[in-house]
Amino acid sequence: MGWFSSKKSVVGLDIGSSAVKAVELKGSRGNYELVSIGHVTLLSDIIVDGHIIDLNHVSDVINRIFQEQNIKTNLVGTSVSGHSVIVKKINLPSMSPEELSEQINWEAEQYIPFALDEVNLSYEVLGQDATGTGMEVLLVACKKDRIAQCTQVINQAGKQLHFVDVDSFALQAAYDLNYHPMPTTTVALLDIGASVMNINVVRGSQSIFTRDISVGGNQYTDLLQKELNLTFEEAESLKRGLPTESGVRPEDAQPLIQSVSEILALEVQKTLDFFRATSSMADSSKVDRMLIAGGSSKVSGLTAYMAERFGVPVDRFDSFRNIKYNNKKFDEDYIRELSPNMAVAVGLALRSGD
Ligand SMILES: Nc1ncnc2c1ncn2[C@@H]1O[C@H](COP(=O)(O)OP(=O)(O)OP(=O)(O)O)[C@@H](O)[C@H]1O
Ligand SMILES: [Mg+2]
Repeated sequence: MGWFSSKKSVVGLDIGSSAVKAVELKGSRGNYELVSIGHVTLLSDIIVDGHIIDLNHVSDVINRIFQEQNIKTNLVGTSVSGHSVIVKKINLPSMSPEELSEQINWEAEQYIPFALDEVNLSYEVLGQDATGTGMEVLLVACKKDRIAQCTQVINQAGKQLHFVDVDSFALQAAYDLNYHPMPTTTVALLDIGASVMNINVVRGSQSIFTRDISVGGNQYTDLLQKELNLTFEEAESLKRGLPTESGVRPEDAQPLIQSVSEILALEVQKTLDFFRATSSMADSSKVDRMLIAGGSSKVSGLTAYMAERFGVPVDRFDSFRNIKYNNKKFDEDYIRELSPNMAVAVGLALRSGD
């Protein structure tokens, strides 16, 4: 982060498939305070498979959040994840920044499963590689149409897109601030939303492995709907522990919920196995802890099941663990309830001035 970069605050805007979330912070490292928080849910047909189907609706929602929360700044940072984003660490021979900028497209072509003219490509030199003779470079490619959609809904809401990040990295930024990681601790950060699960395995403040998987809270809702003959809304509230009018009790749903938790855990397991098999650092391939963000971290029994299954402590992610807020202005129960859902938005808000 440059010291001279803008100190203007940027609103972290997480356009998720089930809710748009916004966070504005003030302060600086070690001393952040919440300025605004917004959360508006979306119907399930507004964003499908990472595509914003109803652009007008999403931009209205953004506008509404800014008005209701009385947000003054126009600058917005957002992030992407899922199919349309590729994050890869690659090893290259050491070369100058000029040489790298000439060669990067050619290199990227081998790792990115899209035509290069269809993506926005960015890269960052991470440092020397393990052998000490080459360097490690982080490649990030995002489909242009995905970025174009974000730009469009944000502009249409009268706001200006300041940067586009990746969900997993925003999650990590929120983790860094809130958990002050020890350099030798390996933590699996999960964000389980409605349609995507982001996994970022970090050692200290370094990301060693990321992966997005197309599973999430919708899987629970779908199964409850099908098996118990419910509407989407009924299944959603049953999932949250409320009985349905037709008399289905949360206890009746628990075996179905558990079966989906097992599917999610299996995906996490596969990812961690892959991570272990490909990790060059034998000592860090063991995960010490798991933190779960996203609305689906609140699924009944999920964190306990994950803890039992992986044999490590598993906690729900607290996005405001290290962020002050005025409890005259913000309702504590509301903040506590939304805390896991806001991880990406908090991480984005922290990037102000980056
Ligand atoms: N109390 C709760 N219990 C169980 N599930 C919940 C609870 N609250 C929210 N959810 C689920 O969490 C999901 C929404 O979480 P979140 O806002 O993190 O997703 P999103 O960011 O919109 O989705 P994605 O990132 O996958 O596009 C929904 O599937 C919702 O049903
Ligand atoms: Mg999300």
